This record gives sequence, C-alpha cells and structure tokens, in this order.
Amino acid sequence: MSEHSENSATNGNTVGNPPRKMRVLLETYGCQMNEYDTELVKSILEKDQFAIVKTENEADIIMLNTCAVRENAHRKVYGRVHDIHHRREGRPVMIGILGCMATNLRQELFENRGLKIDFIAGPDSYKRLPTLIREASAGEQAFDLTLSEFETYSDVFPARKEGVNAWIAVMRGCNNFCTFCVVPYTRGRERSRSVENIVGEVKVLAADGFKQVTLLGQNVNSYRHEEHDFAHLLEEVAKVPGIERVRFTSPHPKDFPDRVIDSIAANKKLCNHMHVPAQSGNDRVLDMMNRTYTRKEYLDLIAKMRAKVPGVALSTDIIVGFPTETDAEFEDTFTLMKDVEFDSAFIFKYSERKQTIAAKKFPDDVSEDKKTERIVRLNDLQKSISLKKNRAHLGEIHEVLVEATQTAKSETEIQARNDGNKIVILKAGPEQVGDILKARIVDATNYVLKGERV
Ligand code: 5AD
Ligand code: SF4
Repeated sequence: MSEHSENSATNGNTVGNPPRKMRVLLETYGCQMNEYDTELVKSILEKDQFAIVKTENEADIIMLNTCAVRENAHRKVYGRVHDIHHRREGRPVMIGILGCMATNLRQELFENRGLKIDFIAGPDSYKRLPTLIREASAGEQAFDLTLSEFETYSDVFPARKEGVNAWIAVMRGCNNFCTFCVVPYTRGRERSRSVENIVGEVKVLAADGFKQVTLLGQNVNSYRHEEHDFAHLLEEVAKVPGIERVRFTSPHPKDFPDRVIDSIAANKKLCNHMHVPAQSGNDRVLDMMNRTYTRKEYLDLIAKMRAKVPGVALSTDIIVGFPTETDAEFEDTFTLMKDVEFDSAFIFKYSERKQTIAAKKFPDDVSEDKKTERIVRLNDLQKSISLKKNRAHLGEIHEVLVEATQTAKSETEIQARNDGNKIVILKAGPEQVGDILKARIVDATNYVLKGERV
C-alpha cells in the first residue's frame, strides 16, 4: 500500500498557489443501481478534494462504472477504454474501472496490458476510491474488489442529478443465484438499510424538491431490516409529505408479498406499475434457471395483481436461447407474453457469464441465429401488444408528472409520465418540471402517448 497522503489528490503544485483539485469524469453503463452508485461515488470524491467535470477534455481521471450482466456491456467498456487512449494521445489520463465488471474480471483487466487501467474498485469499495487513486498516482497497481456483507453506503448522501425522480438503493446484493446471472458474484450478499435511514433520506429529497422516489434493489422483496419488510418500507416512504409518487424495481416473482399488492391498490402515491421479470414461460427452462416458480405460479401472480389493482401496468424481462431451450419451449415464452399482454418488455439473448452456475453446467448451445430469430419474434409480438395497450388509453384522462420542459425532438413539447410509467408528450405550456397535471390521451404509438391538457 502506498504512503501517499491527502495532498496527492491534487495537481499542479506551484509554490504559493493552492493545489488544483484533480478533475474526474464519471461515465455509467448498465442498470439504475449503477446510475445510483455513480451518484454515491461523486459524493465521496467531492468530499475528498476531487472535482467532478462533464467533459473528457477537462478530466485528469476517467472512471467507467461498468456492467457485467451481458457480454455486449463488457464489449462497450473495452471499446471505450481504447477510444480514450486513442483520443488522449500525448495527454495523460488515469482510467479507473468501477462496478460489476471490476469484480467479474478482476485480474484480467490488469493483465491485459493494452488496456492500461490504473485502478479498479468493486461495488463495495467506493469509499476507498480516494486512497486507490493516490496509490495509482504513485505508480502502484491499485485495486479493491472486496465484497462486504454490511456496506450499504447509508452514511453517504448521493450527489444526485436535478429532476423529478431520485433513485435510492434500499438493499444491495442478491442471494438468489439464478443460474444465468452474475450479480450474486459481482455484488455479493443481500443486505438492507434501515427504514429510519431511508425515510430520513427521502425527507431530505422532498425538501430538495424531488417529487418521486424509486426504491432500488436487486431483489426488493427480500428487503428486511430487523422486523421490517418491504411492504412496511413502501408504506413509510409514501407517508413522506412532498413525495407524490413512489416506484420500485426489481421484485422477484417467487416471493411477491400480497401486502405490497394491497398497498399499491390502496395508496395513491404507490404507482400502479409493477416490473415482474418472467425470464421464460417454460417450466423446464425456469427450473434450469433456478427461478423457483412455475409458469402457472407466475400466471397466478399476474392474475392476482390484475384482480387487486385493476388497470395496473405490467412490464417484464425475458431471456431467449437459454442453454438447451428447444423451439417448443420457446413457444411457451411466446404464448406467455401473448396471454399476459405486458405493457412493455425487455428481451435479451442469453449471454454466458463467467462464474455463473449456467456457465459451469450448461454449454451455451443455442445458435446465435436461433437466438436472433427468437428475439425478433418476441420484439415484434411485444410491439403490437404495446401499441394495442397504448391505443386502449385513447380518450382517458391521466394524471401526469412533468419530467422535462422540452423533448429530444422538440422545444415546443414537454415530456411527462403517467402513473403506469408511460411517457406522455404534451404541447409546452406554463408547467414546470415536477408539476402534476391532467391530460386527455389523444394519440398513441407503441412506446409513447400523446396528451392534451384538460
Ligand atoms: N444473459 C442474458 N440476459 C441476462 N439477464 C441477466 N443475466 C443475463 C444473461 N446472462 C437479464 C435478465 C435480468 C435482466 C436485468 O438482465 O432478464 O432480469
Ligand atoms: Fe440476478 Fe436472479 Fe438476483 Fe435478479 S434475482 S439479480 S436475475 S440472481
């Protein structure tokens, strides 16, 4: 370990001038938990003599907060590292790899000399980043990939982006070991923050003007702190004055508590949208995936949600081409999606991940062409279902929360979102970000609704 002291986090030490803070650019890949972790890292660094910058040219250090869930996530990061070296030729820059790829690939990242990585930090080591950077500045190979059973960062207040929504991680890690999934290895065991700590942070968020919070966890229904479960946490968060909407992601279908569904039905602030990852519609494949529910149990859960929360919006995750999945078994996923009619779906080709049970036990034997054929069929099916479901909203009046006072396409349109998590586009008006208004739905595509003020 290096003996470098605090001041080595600075640059350009000319006598008489205060040392310049080292400037850090952070880039995020992957899921919302990673977006949230980047906000934690910003906060940790800002407290410790580093300045966060927005462009590559200003940066002394570039950190990539990475994802390992599928191979294309890895590929993007390798591509980006080469791109940085190419563009910065002659101007030195330190590169750090954070997040799931760090714990997944460990030594490989250092051993691949062409990559020239300066430091690596896993998801439970962000508080050590200032030290790691100092060690790397002293020429050491700096890394910390220790996974903790306790770290929840509940003492770090994230440096959040302004807007209507604040992410807040309520638990970290996962104990489920779905056979395809690398998360239990990259993020370690489940651990939850206390209700008081989370509610305390939500109160600060409300005072800062946030109207919506999204509770995050790899498997939120495993949330448990002392005698409190996830339903209790949701209800407590929804009581915070000023917070108009509460969302959460992701739950696991195997232990979806009735009380969560009942609370969503009863409490206006708990949004009428649930993301319920099915992964497959075939029992043999579900069993190989270690999902611990059957097709029937999954369908019964969906039926219960729809009975208790009429009109609830539902979304899902699906994997096609899991090892040994036959055409007939894939058809079971197709019919599940056709029968359930999700509002939206994230559909992925199976991607073998190092360390996972599937990688050890099941050869990745479904051809790339088959995976492509299956994903194309499901995407086409889902597009037509999403369009049909969105068109069914025509004429309805929805309460929408304004997210942006212009859209990517037009400065004369605003972007809002309904309770069911669907984007609603309206003509620009007097409303500001965070306002709630009523809109009549007048048009629909497969992924957005168009509304008019009522
Ligand atoms: N291959 C393909 N998709 C995967 N997912 C997780 N692991 C893999 C993998 N190895 C998908 C699952 C999960 C979502 C976040 O990513 O559908 O719900
Ligand atoms: Fe991965 Fe399964 Fe845990 Fe989700 S529940 S993070 S898919 S192991």
